[in-house]
Amino acid sequence: NGTLGEVWDDEMSSTMLGQRLRKVVQNYQAMNKYGVQFPDAGAGVRHPKRSGPELLCQLRDTVSIVTLTPDMEPFARFPWATQLPARPLSMEVGPFKTCAVVSSAGSMKNSGLGREIDAHDAVVRFNAAPTTGFEKDVGSKTTIRLINSQVMASEDHRFLSSSLYSTGILVGWDPAPYSSDLSEWYNKTDYPIFQQYQRYRRLHPQQPFYILHPRVEWQLWNRIQENMAEPIQKNPPSSGLLGTVLMMSLCEVVHVYEFLPSRRKTELCHYYQRFIDAACTLGAYHPLLYEKNLVKRMNQGLNRDIYTHGRVTLPGYSTFNC
Ligand code: C5P
Repeated sequence: NGTLGEVWDDEMSSTMLGQRLRKVVQNYQAMNKYGVQFPDAGAGVRHPKRSGPELLCQLRDTVSIVTLTPDMEPFARFPWATQLPARPLSMEVGPFKTCAVVSSAGSMKNSGLGREIDAHDAVVRFNAAPTTGFEKDVGSKTTIRLINSQVMASEDHRFLSSSLYSTGILVGWDPAPYSSDLSEWYNKTDYPIFQQYQRYRRLHPQQPFYILHPRVEWQLWNRIQENMAEPIQKNPPSSGLLGTVLMMSLCEVVHVYEFLPSRRKTELCHYYQRFIDAACTLGAYHPLLYEKNLVKRMNQGLNRDIYTHGRVTLPGYSTFNC
């Protein structure tokens, strides 16, 4: 038809993936490394498909953004707990009017979205995503950087020394056991998040650095599974969705860029690397396909904005009634 190309279909299913990715998804679905206990889709009573506003209300009611504070056990017993921020993120940061969530997708490249992104009151970026040299496409403002424990622990990323991480507020997270029990997690982190956290804080004591309570990732996972017709990967959601929900709790309006791919859709994994893999956009470890279905259903912007700008519009938690 030539006027508007296809945008993300909110009923994407693993059956639409290629054979290789479908296998990977099935393996993670069966593996259950984190001990997820939740009725598989189809096993219980199937809820009729929720509308966008219903999903938004459900998210706000059941996913609360909590960060670790020094009073929480078992941390309260450790001398280093004083390195944790005294008050939770939600009490120290925001509220903001407009926020931009910048996915790291290859389709950010040549988007020319930099100026639009920087016009927001707060901008969230992920992991090792740079701005230097990519300002025209991704902007230069970084208010919050959400980083996973793998990046925090990896030698390649030079987390402790690279200036990439030195601007904005850092928020770290780690895939925890499904129980979200802090002691259990402390003894069984996916990567050494606490060791790296302590080192980073000693080197950069002035930079605000929070750690996400693992309950956030699994509360969010529950909502994804509950609203999908098929079993999803039993692994935590991607940084992109965590950051989106984080900003919905801090902002009046959230624009998410290239989480739902625009007309620039590409198999290039990241805008800042020459690595090609469709799994980056469609998911392998993370239930990314289903995260995108959920975001598509909650989108309040136009399909046209997705197509041209890769832009989704979500309302902040403070702005809607349920
Ligand atoms: O790869 P990384 O997790 O650092 O990227 C940040 C986020 O951007 C991902 O968690 C995912 O939500 C999103 N992303 C995407 N498509 C890509 C690459 C990243 O949706 N091709």
